[in-house]
Order: sequence, then C-alpha cells, then structure tokens
Amino acid sequence: MHRGKLTVVGAGPGDVDLITLKGVKALQNADVVLYDALVSNELLEYAPKAEKIFVGKRKGCYSYQQAQINDLIVERATLGLHVVRLKGGDPFVFGRGAEEMEHAAAFGVEVDVVPGISSSLSVPASQNIPVTKRGAAESFWVITGTTKEHKLSNDVALAAKSNATVVILMGMSKLGEIMQLFKKEGREDTPVAIIQNGTTEHEKIGTGTVASMEYKAREQQLSNPAIIVIGEVVHHRQNILDIQHRYQHQEIKLHEKV
Ligand SMILES: C[S@@+](CC[C@H](N)C(=O)[O-])C[C@H]1O[C@@H](n2cnc3c(N)ncnc32)[C@H](O)[C@@H]1O
Repeated sequence: MHRGKLTVVGAGPGDVDLITLKGVKALQNADVVLYDALVSNELLEYAPKAEKIFVGKRKGCYSYQQAQINDLIVERATLGLHVVRLKGGDPFVFGRGAEEMEHAAAFGVEVDVVPGISSSLSVPASQNIPVTKRGAAESFWVITGTTKEHKLSNDVALAAKSNATVVILMGMSKLGEIMQLFKKEGREDTPVAIIQNGTTEHEKIGTGTVASMEYKAREQQLSNPAIIVIGEVVHHRQNILDIQHRYQHQEIKLHEKV
C-alpha cells in the first residue's frame, strides 16, 4: 500500500522571492497544499493543479486546530498523495513542523522537510539589522514571547542578563513585560527595533530604547505579526544611513567644485 508523502516547506518571511528553489520544486510536485496565514497567496501559483487548503488563523475564517491539521495530512497522504505543508519562515522555528512530521511518520507516511528563511533573521536583515556584528554582539537568542501556556518564556529574563542580541517572536502582547525585564538589568538605554510585516509591502518599523519602546510602539500602532529586536546591533541600521548620507553629501560637494 502506498502511504504518500508529507513535505514540510518553509515559505520564507513574506517576500515571495525568499522561498528556496527546493521549496518551489516541492510545490510544483504537490497534490495537496496546506498553508498558513503568514504565507503569501502568490506562492500557491507554483502549485496550479494541487488542492489548496487554508489551515491558518485569519479573522472571520474557520480556524483549524492542530489535531485537525495532523489528521488532514495523514488522511490525504494515505490516499497516496504528496502533501506539502507550507509554513511561514522556517518550519522548525516555532513552526510545529517537527510535530506534524512525527505525527505523519507514525502512520507510515514518508516525511521530508525543506528549510525556509526564518523571519527571526531575515526580518531584522530587511531593515539592515544584523543579529551579530563584530564589537556589538557575539551571539543571539531567538525566543517566543508566548509559550504553550500563553506565558512569556523564562528565557527572556536570562537573555536580558547577556550581551547577546535578543530576537523575540510573538511578543507584542507582552512588550511591557519584556521591557520591564531588561529595565531590571539596568538596560534602559539598550536600543530596540520592532518590525511589523517584514519583507512585505506593508513593512513598518519603529525604533527606540528599552525605556521608550513601549510608548513608541503604541504611538506608531505597531502590532502583529512583528519581531522585537533588542541589542546594540539595532544601531547598525542608523550607521548605514549615516554613512550613505555622508557619502552623498561629499558627492554633492565634489560636484559643486567641478
Ligand atoms: C508562529 S511564528 C512562526 C515563525 C516562522 N516559523 C519563522 O521562522 O519565521 C509567527 C511569528 O513570527 C514572526 N513573524 C513571521 N513573519 C514575520 C514578518 N514577515 N514580519 C514580522 N514578524 C514575522 C511574528 O512574531 C509572528 O507572530
């Protein structure tokens, strides 16, 4: 009996060009595509003949529970079909990709994963914020703001004690609590950036410090989906802008002299 196949594919952070070639090939071979809310609909065009099922959470839409998604994967795969589970970013970074693979494998379904470009690195990068930089940060944490118990991860308090860059996903509803943990460590002046809808046409950024960011986020109406970046590396964005500005200024002066 043919048990079908599940390929869990990372769609990248939002910009359709940021999916991998291997991800596109998997979509072209799919019989069924199950996709999430943070996945661009444009990517579905790579799978014109496949059955497409939206299983994400969107206002006004029926919302699938994880168990239902697992059942759907197994049901379609055991018909001998190739199921592609298309997920935002990388499927193994807060993406439940591993859980879905385990579930399908337990039913004899062949499983595979195509890594994706995680929003945790690419969304800061889209704003010229590197997660490591010589002299600014030697390492980085990627932490969820909302654990299974809907609480802030205890790792945030540990990360606040380090010199590392701290990247927090799903943390907007706990922004005050997060900033408080950094204030407790005397980090009021540490730079912070919040990037909403990174790498898409709706991208929006707000910058500040641990002391000011909560107020600024409210003022600029920053909300989900967003990434919070805390650390000296946030300055890099301004450094680049300043260097470009100085260069242009010099060019104008040279031009005036000629
Ligand atoms: C369930 S997690 C999935 C993360 C995903 N697997 C990844 O590697 O990017 C969803 C969270 O990722 C962050 N996120 C994903 N895409 C984003 C984007 N384009 N801009 C800002 N934040 C994003 C937000 O914090 C969002 O709430």
